[in-house]
Amino acid sequence: MSSLTQPTRTRLANPLASTPDLTGRRAVVTGGSSGLGLVTTRALLRRGAEVVIGARDTSRAEDARDRLVAELNLPAGRVTVARLDLIDPHSVREFAKTVGDAALDLLVLNAGISSVPLRHDHAGIESQFATNHLGHFALTGHLLPALDGGTASRIVTVSSSLYTGGKLDLDDLSDSATYSPGRAYSRSKLANVIFAVELQRRLAAQGSTTRSFAAHPGMARTPLHATYPSATTRVLTSAVARVIGRDPEPADIGVLTAALNPEATPALFWGPVGSKTAPDALGLPFAAAASNSAPAAALWSKSEQLSDIRILS
Ligand SMILES: NC(=O)c1ccc[n+]([C@@H]2O[C@H](COP(=O)([O-])OP(=O)(O)OC[C@H]3O[C@@H](n4cnc5c(N)ncnc54)[C@H](OP(=O)(O)O)[C@@H]3O)[C@@H](O)[C@H]2O)c1
Repeated sequence: MSSLTQPTRTRLANPLASTPDLTGRRAVVTGGSSGLGLVTTRALLRRGAEVVIGARDTSRAEDARDRLVAELNLPAGRVTVARLDLIDPHSVREFAKTVGDAALDLLVLNAGISSVPLRHDHAGIESQFATNHLGHFALTGHLLPALDGGTASRIVTVSSSLYTGGKLDLDDLSDSATYSPGRAYSRSKLANVIFAVELQRRLAAQGSTTRSFAAHPGMARTPLHATYPSATTRVLTSAVARVIGRDPEPADIGVLTAALNPEATPALFWGPVGSKTAPDALGLPFAAAASNSAPAAALWSKSEQLSDIRILS
């Protein structure tokens, strides 16, 4: 627990200045072919890593891969695409098999959907919770042995500052009676942060060298905001993103800090601060809702039950 005691707000200027060379290191980025995930993938490739992108839309992801190969003049195989649909447990298992057992140094749980119309997974769970949290929970479980073989391996869960407004009502995850797209998104992002903090606690308790971080991009100008069911929300959010949002590259600084910066601690929630084009990274202590052990234990056992996989318990 020592890494989680008394964390204090920390601002890192130029946080990627002394990031390690990643030659020979292997990374997985879910949703790594668009928005923030694409920026993460590019940054890892630039430093020499081998990257596996998980995506539903594999032909769009293959186009993104081909553009990266041309842009960075990469040898064949440095960046690959494998199909991953986080809402489908079979797809998550198959993706993990494709990643394989070889040492894995970094897992970036980036993929996500936001404020979409009501849909359910095979078990009747609301789709944002199922995709953003449950799919990543199961994927992490499948990939922990490979991460265990990695060098100072890290897992970075991409959440949102909106997690502080989330309510973890585990007794009704179908939302059939009262669905609010925005509330369901905040709940899924709260689950992301609780998961990241609890995973770090469990890894440390078992003496693992793998560490779990949580990060967020602030508001970023990505395709994520185009799916809101309400046209008014779409228009308003686009206007807000134009005024206060960042382009994906600067917005990704918190994620990359959590993934790569040797000084970053998992005890803080990493995001961008300051300049819109060249922000610093800010690590903030987690809100009580994310660090209390009772909701974390409840989320963990519910997630194990729903995804039929036991992780570090
Ligand atoms: N943009 C923001 O302002 C903002 C703010 C706070 C947090 N975030 C978080 O940042 C992360 C990245 O979002 P973004 O803004 O970069 O949006 P984005 O460009 O829409 O990227 C989302 C990615 O997730 C993938 N994805 C969606 N559903 C999936 C599924 N079922 N299985 C596998 N992959 C799936 C998508 O690829 P496919 O469609 O090919 O699967 C896409 O590559 C998300 O976790 C989001 O919650 C974003």
